[in-house]
Amino acid sequence: MLGFGDPELSVDREDVDTMEDRFVRRRTLGASIATAALVLAACQGGDDGGGADAGNYPESPITFIVPFATGGPTDTVTRLIADPMAAELGGEIVVQNVEGAGGTVAADQVANAEPDGYTVLMHHIGMSTAPTLYPDLAYDPLEDFEMIGLVTEVPMTFIGSPEFEPSTMEELIAYVGDNLDTVTYANAGVGAASQLCGLLFETATGLDLTEVPYEGTGPAMDDLLGNQVDFMCDQTTNTAERILGGEVQAYAVTTPDRVEALPDVPTTDEEGLADLQVSVWHGLYVPAGTPQEVIDALNSALKVALADETVISRMGELGTAPVPEDRTTPEAHRELLEAQIELWRPIIEEAGVTAS
Ligand code: MLT
Repeated sequence: MLGFGDPELSVDREDVDTMEDRFVRRRTLGASIATAALVLAACQGGDDGGGADAGNYPESPITFIVPFATGGPTDTVTRLIADPMAAELGGEIVVQNVEGAGGTVAADQVANAEPDGYTVLMHHIGMSTAPTLYPDLAYDPLEDFEMIGLVTEVPMTFIGSPEFEPSTMEELIAYVGDNLDTVTYANAGVGAASQLCGLLFETATGLDLTEVPYEGTGPAMDDLLGNQVDFMCDQTTNTAERILGGEVQAYAVTTPDRVEALPDVPTTDEEGLADLQVSVWHGLYVPAGTPQEVIDALNSALKVALADETVISRMGELGTAPVPEDRTTPEAHRELLEAQIELWRPIIEEAGVTAS
């Protein structure tokens, strides 16, 4: 099993250093922007954010932070709900991608943002795996955030590049086993859903993957389409249309049942990998200490967005759906996060993967 500290890892230490440098740069940049904003607010005689007037929320644009690159599944889901949420809130939502360290750079930035409702994090299953994968994680997912609500749960799919030799899951496993040093598996870094799915593949097959990390599966997909990497496991929100369009090869979906939008793609269970099951859940977060009125306003807007016919129909085309209404509450969100931290911890520990 490969981890970032593993000398066998095919990724150059240089690449990892670049990620770490970027992490530091982003933190520094984030701090500078925050300082500049405070100075500006003070000069204008405005509020410093901590005492935001929750009753009039929102009075200025809200930033939704996406922890992975543009064009990927997290970005897609965020942009899908941003407009109807903004309309319901009567304000503006700006989507910003803050990539790095498998989604932890963005989460750290939001954990340290003003708790005023103007900085909102969209994150996924990676919120639950990061505490185990990153022993030195600078934030606590349960203590440093307020949950707004769950958004969607997305199946994952194993896909291969157009020219990759295997065309079924059985062939894929055999081919990877025969070509361990040359076959490449794309993911979005330690903490990404695509990394977790690869880890489950390794556990189920006993094969060590040669991982190539990207800042999101959006750019990973570009390289896969260009045959620069061989295969990956990614959310249907990024793969369904490419599978249906014949742009990539599909090996299996990671859910117990086949996905309605992809009726011809077998499940991992059908392919003899019964334990390889994972769905990627997404939720919205604000920093701990955010006023209750703001949390309520964001939660109401989320509920409206998830009931929007355009959102429902687009999600359906992408192989997913909004979570049922009873799961859109902050309480249901917190319960799931707690349960998922406990679910993934022993699996990750057993696999021996860490980011340091
Ligand atoms: C993305 O948005 O790029 C993905 O969610 C990354 C991942 O978790 O695999």
